[in-house]
Amino acid sequence: MNILVLGGGGREHALAWAIKQNPKCDRLVVAPGNAGIPDIGETAALDILDPATVTAFCADEGIDFVVIGPEAPLVAGVADALAEVGVTAFGPSAAAAELEASKSFCKQVCAAAGVPTADWAAFDSAADARAHLAQKGAPIVVKADGLAAGKGVTVARDLATAEAALEQLFAEPDATVVLEEMMEGEEASFFVLCDGETALPIGSAQDHKRAFDGDEGPNTGGMGAYSPAPILTPEMEAQVMARIVEPTLAEMARRGTPYRGVLYAGLMIHQGTARLVEYNVRFGDPEAQVLMMRLGAQALDLMHACAEGRLAEMAVHWADDHALTVVMAARGYPGPYRSGSAIHGLEGLPDDSWHMVFHAGTRVEDGQLVAAGGRVLNVTARGGTLQQARDRAYAMVDRINWPEGFCRRDIGWRALRDA
Ligand code: AMP
Ligand code: GLY
Repeated sequence: MNILVLGGGGREHALAWAIKQNPKCDRLVVAPGNAGIPDIGETAALDILDPATVTAFCADEGIDFVVIGPEAPLVAGVADALAEVGVTAFGPSAAAAELEASKSFCKQVCAAAGVPTADWAAFDSAADARAHLAQKGAPIVVKADGLAAGKGVTVARDLATAEAALEQLFAEPDATVVLEEMMEGEEASFFVLCDGETALPIGSAQDHKRAFDGDEGPNTGGMGAYSPAPILTPEMEAQVMARIVEPTLAEMARRGTPYRGVLYAGLMIHQGTARLVEYNVRFGDPEAQVLMMRLGAQALDLMHACAEGRLAEMAVHWADDHALTVVMAARGYPGPYRSGSAIHGLEGLPDDSWHMVFHAGTRVEDGQLVAAGGRVLNVTARGGTLQQARDRAYAMVDRINWPEGFCRRDIGWRALRDA
C-alpha cells in the first residue's frame, strides 16, 4: 500500500512510525510532516484543509490509503472527498466529525442516546448566559462551542472567573457559549475504532493537561501521557462501551451519519461511574504516541480494516506492557514562545520498539534541528511496568540538550501513586 498520513504533530509521527513497521506499507508520505518524518518516509507540503488538494495528490501519487490525523481536515470534509473519488480513508465524515466540532451537537446526541454527561445549556446571547450563570453559581465550566484546540474551556471555581471567561468568549462575533456542570472525578481517555457496524476498543490512556508539575498552571494540548489507564479496568471499559459508546454509535447511525474512524471518549470517572466529558473524532495528541508505541505494526491493519468496514474480523493483540510519553515544549507554551532554538542530543538516543522520540513542532535549519512550535518533542518509552517505561523516558529526556525547552517531571504520578 502507498499510504498518506495527514498532519504534522507528534501524533502523526507516531501513526507513521507504527504504519512503517508493517510490511504492507510500501510507500509512506506524511503531509505536511515534521523533521522526524524523513527517517521513516517522505514529507509533502500540502494544504491538508483543502479536500481537492488532497484528492489530487492521491491521484497523482497513486495513494491507496489515507490516515487523517487531526480534526480540522475531518471537519473540512477531506474524508468525504476521498470517499467520493474511491480512496480508502481512515477518519469520519464531516457530518460525523460534528461530534467534536460542535459541543452543542455532541450534547444533543448524548441527550437523544441517553449518554451520561454534565448538565449543560448553550447560549448565543451574553445576557442570557449571565442570567443562567447567576442562577447556577460556581463551580461551573465555560466553553466555546466550536473547535478551540483544548484552549476554549475554563473550569471556574468562582463566579468572577466564570464571568471573565464569558466576557472573553462573547467578545468574539457570533459566539456560542456552553455553560456546563463541573464534574468531579478522575479523567481518562478511551479509544474505540468504529466502522459503522462494529466497535472495537483499542486502548486507554491518561493525559496531563496542565503545563506544570503537580497539575499546576494553564491548560495545554497535553504535556504527557501513559497507557493503559489503570482506572479503565475491564469492568469499567464494559460500562463505558454499554452506556456511552454503543448508544452514541446507534444514535449516529439512526441520524444517517454513521460514525467511522476512531472515537476518542474523554471520560470523568467518579465512584465507579463514568460520564462523558467530550468526544474527539481522532486520536489524542499525545495519547496516540503511547497507543502507537504499544500497538506497533498492527495499528495499520486495524485502521485499514476500520476504513474498509472489516472490523468484525479483527482483534487487538496486546502485549503485557506500558508506555509513557513526556512532552518537551518551548518555554512559554501554551502562551507565547520563541521558535528556532537549537536542539542537541537526539543523535545518540536509542530508537527501537522500546524507545522513540516522536517529533512534533520541529524543523531543520542549515542542518540543525530547531524548535518550530509549542509542543516540540514527545519522548516515549515502553516497558514491562509503568515505572520502567517512565524511567526509560526520563533517561532519554536527560540526554536531550535543549535549554529553551521544558517538560513536566511528574508524568504518570497518579497511576504510580495508586499502584
Ligand atoms: P474539553 O475541551 O471539553 O475536553 O475540556 C478540556 C478539559 O476541561 C477537560 O479535559 C477537563 O479537564 C475539563 N472539563 C471540561 N468539561 C468539564 C466538566 N463538565 N467538568 C469538569 N471538568 C471539565
Ligand atoms: N490530548 C488531548 C487531545 O488530543 O485532545
